[in-house]
Amino acid sequence: MEARTWRPTKRSCIMDTTGPASRRGAGEAGMIHTVFLGVLFGELLLGLFFLLLSLLFPLPYGRHTRSGWGPTWPAWRAWRVMALPAASMLVVMYAVSGRSLFDPAMVFLLLWEAHYAYRLFFYPHLAPERSRSGFPTLFVPAVVLFHVANGFINGYYLFQLPFAYGPSSFLSVRPLCGLAVFGSGLVLHMWSDRILRDVRPEGPGRYGIPRRGPFRLVSCPNYLGEILQWIGWAVLTWSLPGLAFAWVTFAVLLPRAVSHHRWYRRSFGDYPENRRALIPFLL
Ligand SMILES: NC(=O)c1ccc[n+]([C@@H]2O[C@H](COP(=O)([O-])OP(=O)(O)OC[C@H]3O[C@@H](n4cnc5c(N)ncnc54)[C@H](OP(=O)(O)O)[C@@H]3O)[C@@H](O)[C@H]2O)c1
Repeated sequence: MEARTWRPTKRSCIMDTTGPASRRGAGEAGMIHTVFLGVLFGELLLGLFFLLLSLLFPLPYGRHTRSGWGPTWPAWRAWRVMALPAASMLVVMYAVSGRSLFDPAMVFLLLWEAHYAYRLFFYPHLAPERSRSGFPTLFVPAVVLFHVANGFINGYYLFQLPFAYGPSSFLSVRPLCGLAVFGSGLVLHMWSDRILRDVRPEGPGRYGIPRRGPFRLVSCPNYLGEILQWIGWAVLTWSLPGLAFAWVTFAVLLPRAVSHHRWYRRSFGDYPENRRALIPFLL
């Protein structure tokens, strides 16, 4: 059984084209829909671009910082600023959709905000404070723009399109699997960040070998957690925008996990032999 139904509402002028005002509304709605499709397609291409680029050159922040990228911000502050538009955009899309606070679609908004609340309010305290890592200031507006675009396509699809959600949108097998993957990804992500906090040896900008919990299996369980979260989101929402976000996350974090893993092996003679980069026992 389909877990959601397409139910035109007064606000869904895409469907209602009678009368001049509605025709104008339909025109606007058609234009927004075209922008949505363009951004969605662009995001899918962006993932491919990032995958190829970052396989060749690790993005120049954190341990892979290189000179020549101009001034930098402390990484934890950059993450906070970059998370803000991501968190706000979905709220805005919900607010302008005309859905009530008690619409079941609110569940999507709350899950999204759970991730960004963590990123905004908790992560900056967990990120090792003596991080030497600079995040190139140049990249901040680009990431902000990405988050605005990504929030727009996800919010448009989930809240603006006239889908009616009900209990089966969340309580049937597929959405429950998506929820479980999203939730376990978030827990893995938070657990890994917590371990990383205690790993840094005394002295700014130094790195240690994380040895506890999920780090016994992979070098970057925090990345694995984040990838799982957005795969879970894509399965739960069963949407192309959700898939596009999972794809971009994977395309950025998989090559970066491989670069981190190689860096650990180069930097520490006693780095555990059987540990993989991102996927336990495989990669
Ligand atoms: N959705 C997406 O597309 C996307 C893309 C990129 C990142 N992210 C997320 O953003 C967050 C930050 O990314 P990141 O690339 O900065 O993660 P990271 O390289 O794992 O670093 C996370 C924090 O832990 C510190 N750290 C890592 N390994 C350490 C070690 N062995 N010893 C001491 N300190 C260590 C880092 O310090 P330094 O800063 O000094 O290295 C940094 O403060 C992650 O949660 C990631 O999942 C998401």
